[in-house]
Amino acid sequence: MTAPTAHSGSAQSATPLFEAQNVSVTFGGLKAVQNISLTLRPGEILGLIGPNGAGKTTLFNALTGFVTPSSGRVLLSGRDITRLQPQARARLGMARTFQVERPFEDLSVLENVLVAAFLHHSGKKAEDKAYAVLERVGLSDRAAQPAAELNLARRRRLELAKVLALEPRVLFLDESIAGLNPPAQAEMVGLIRELADSGLGIVMVEHIMHVIMGLSNHIICMAFGELLAEGDPLTVANHPDVIRAYLGEDDD
Ligand SMILES: Nc1ncnc2c1ncn2[C@@H]1O[C@H](COP(=O)(O)OP(=O)(O)O)[C@@H](O)[C@H]1O
Ligand SMILES: [Mg+2]
Repeated sequence: MTAPTAHSGSAQSATPLFEAQNVSVTFGGLKAVQNISLTLRPGEILGLIGPNGAGKTTLFNALTGFVTPSSGRVLLSGRDITRLQPQARARLGMARTFQVERPFEDLSVLENVLVAAFLHHSGKKAEDKAYAVLERVGLSDRAAQPAAELNLARRRRLELAKVLALEPRVLFLDESIAGLNPPAQAEMVGLIRELADSGLGIVMVEHIMHVIMGLSNHIICMAFGELLAEGDPLTVANHPDVIRAYLGEDDD
């Protein structure tokens, strides 16, 4: 028999936490995403950029199970999850935020997070989990407040708390920072970095260039559904095709 530790150790490090292989999505005749591949390891932040209409959200939806790819595969720790529903993916450790956050307005901040904490826990344990997550995102003093009363910065943090209560290994963040004022942006950036440092793999779409360039280990730039450029932030930021794609775009 071969030495089991050495063998399984190398096999484990060779399998990415999350992987997309040649994923394409077609809406009628429109090729919204064409042949996109990516890999993600624990603690890594992968940034997805591209002008409006590039296919970022559609790719996100394909990676998280909200649309079915027309071709290609999606793997979680080497397991093919291409056809799994979002709920089943959540149980396996994947969670996502939405570009437009949508809390249950009538529920309190705590109750919103509890709904998510019930995925893995019940009763008092779920409540403890929800409080711990609110603490982590700096919302514990708002636990009893109706979600509808939160300002935008706190709604974004509530959205993050809800996904963290699902105890993910892979987190997908769709524009969690765009629209926030600079101090609130800085808070979110700090939170996201902490989450990666604690071992989560993170895929994020973000429109604010300096934010995504500062946070990401690896950047994928899409345009018209296709891969335009990828690499470390500096390489992608200076890529002539990327610069050209962004010329004339309004910075929001
Ligand atoms: N559900 C849908 N049905 C048809 N076309 C869609 C749908 N969602 C997105 N699209 C189209 O796919 C393309 C990519 O959109 P999207 O993924 O939202 O881009 P991004 O997030 O990069 O702005 C756009 O041309 C958009 O109009
Ligand atoms: Mg989008």
